Amino acid sequence: MSSSASLITASESTASTRHRAGGATVRGAKLQDAVNIFELVNSLSGDGTLLRRSYAEICENVRDFAVAESEAGVFLGCGALHLYGPHLAEVRSIVVKPEAKGQGAGGRLIRALLEEAEEQGVVSVCLFTRIPDFFFHFGFRVADRTTLPDKIYKDCQACPRLYACDEVAMVRGPLPKIAVLGPSRIAQPELVKLQVGHIAHPVEEGGSLGAAPGNSSVPAKP
Ligand SMILES: CC(C)(COP(=O)(O)OP(=O)(O)OC[C@H]1O[C@@H](n2cnc3c(N)ncnc32)[C@H](O)[C@@H]1OP(=O)(O)O)[C@@H](O)C(=O)NCCC(=O)NCCS
Repeated sequence: MSSSASLITASESTASTRHRAGGATVRGAKLQDAVNIFELVNSLSGDGTLLRRSYAEICENVRDFAVAESEAGVFLGCGALHLYGPHLAEVRSIVVKPEAKGQGAGGRLIRALLEEAEEQGVVSVCLFTRIPDFFFHFGFRVADRTTLPDKIYKDCQACPRLYACDEVAMVRGPLPKIAVLGPSRIAQPELVKLQVGHIAHPVEEGGSLGAAPGNSSVPAKP
């Protein structure tokens, strides 16, 4: 998440280029926010409102996230922008804590994510949602999901709701003309053969490393 702020007006911007509205501030997420993001996103993953994200996945992609916080620094919500490439980005995991809803934080989060897409030169932004009315406010329109193969291959292919999806696909900007992802096919899983037999040990071979005999963490010679 970049900290630049080309879409916000001068009155909204601050020296730290944070996005302010109704007391809420939006900034790029830090690793220290990962626990809050993890808990809030997954609190709404049980009923399918949001895709479940593992803690490891959030840490790995924390730079995709923006967080909203109160003037006192209290975490209010988050959202992420996933970049597929110059042709497409996706708004993901956008959520505001129940007690902070209706105060502008969600709107500020999505504007910050759209601004990030613009800074990256991406004009097509997609998302899947059950609440299209919210996203109409921000220039998204309903799209045929088959026009978004990257999204399908990234998430839908492995989703238990693949054939019972109740989400609406939406796009802002032109439909992407290309895709970079495709079906993942592994014809035959390649298993690494375990080395059976004697494990050469430095001490046994006259070495001086002093490892305990029988220490099988020493890698076997091929
Ligand atoms: C959707 C969500 C992020 C909105 O956050 P928020 O902070 O309440 O939104 P804001 O206060 O910034 O509202 C911005 C605008 O959207 C409207 N809005 C808010 N929630 C809406 C909804 N569910 N449907 C339609 N419009 C909505 C507001 O009325 C406001 O309109 P206005 O600018 O004309 O006054 C929040 O309700 C939420 O966390 N929902 C649960 C998670 C979820 O469904 N996320 C989307 C997954 S794709």
